[in-house]
This record gives sequence, structure tokens and C-alpha cells, in this order.
Amino acid sequence: MYKKSILIFTLLSFTILLLSNCANKQSCDKPKYTMAIDSELTLLMRDMYNYYDSVKSEVVDGSLDEDIKTFTEIHKAVATSPEKTLSPLYQAFATNYIQSVNHINQSDKNRKDAFNLMVDNCMNCHQQMCPGPMVRIKKLYIE
Ligand code: HEC
Repeated sequence: MYKKSILIFTLLSFTILLLSNCANKQSCDKPKYTMAIDSELTLLMRDMYNYYDSVKSEVVDGSLDEDIKTFTEIHKAVATSPEKTLSPLYQAFATNYIQSVNHINQSDKNRKDAFNLMVDNCMNCHQQMCPGPMVRIKKLYIE
């Protein structure tokens, strides 16, 4: 009788150990999945980069005969850290970027310089808010 209860006790302890181990693993994986979701602003930024990269050669050879796109959503797209885009500094940089795109569209001849001024504005905000992608953004400059 005594031996039997020890055996049951041991089995029970094992089960509890196994169960708690499982539960631990699940809660450890959770943050990974949340991190994997790209923010609205990240997706917008990727679109911006790809678009400006794709029109760059037409700006260089002067064959672009339509207005360059302005991504006005930059003001309200939700970032990975939402408080970032609510700051007056971010909003000021966003306004500068939009004005610099308008400037490209108003320049008939010197679109190259105006385009590079816009890239300056990408870089200015990134220097303060998100330096990581600067290496990549630099490639948008027209030599
Ligand atoms: C007003 C500030 C601001 C301006 C202007 C700005 N960005 Fe960004 N950008 C950000 C922030 C903040 C992030 C990080 C997004 C997040 O974490 O949600 C970002 C992220 C990025 C990324 C990384 C996307 C990824 O795949 O992770 C690229 C590339 C990028 N921006 C390119 C550009 C280009 C090109 C321009 C100019 C045409 C530009 N940005 C102008 C603030 C800005």
C-alpha cells in the first residue's frame, strides 16, 4: 500500500512537470509572432522605397512625363512604436518630405536636384527616428 502511493505520487509529479514545461514554451513563443507582423508604416515605407527606386531612371533621363507620387499617408500610418509618429518632430519631417515631392513636380528642368533634395528629407527623418535603413535609402541618390 505504501509503495503504491509513492508510485502514484511520482507519476503525478511527472505529469505536472511535463504540463508546466509545455505551458512555458508556449508563452515564450508568443512575442516572436507579434514581432513578425509588419507595421502599417513599415509597409508604406517599403512601397515608397520601391516606387522612388523605380522612377529614378526616368528622372535621370528626363522621360518621366507624369507627376511623382506623394505618399501623404505618411502622416497617419501606424508605426511599430505608435507614439513615434505622433511626435511633433516626426510630423514636421513628414511635412518636409511632402513639400519636397511637390517641389520635384514644380521643377521642369532641374528634376534631378529636386529629387535628391527629397532623398535628403528621407534621410533627415531617418537620422532622428530610425537610422537602420539609411544605408539603403542612400542608394536612391542620383549621381
Ligand atoms: C517623417 C519621418 C520619415 C520620413 C520622411 C521617411 N521615413 Fe522611412 N521610416 C520612418 C520610420 C519611423 C520607419 C520605421 C517604421 C516602423 O517601425 O513602423 C521607417 C522605415 C523605413 C524603411 C524600412 C522598411 C522595412 O522594410 O523595415 C525604409 C526602406 C524607409 N523607411 C525608406 C524611406 C524612404 C525611401 C523615404 C523617403 C522617400 C522615407 N523612408 C522617408 C520614418 C520616415
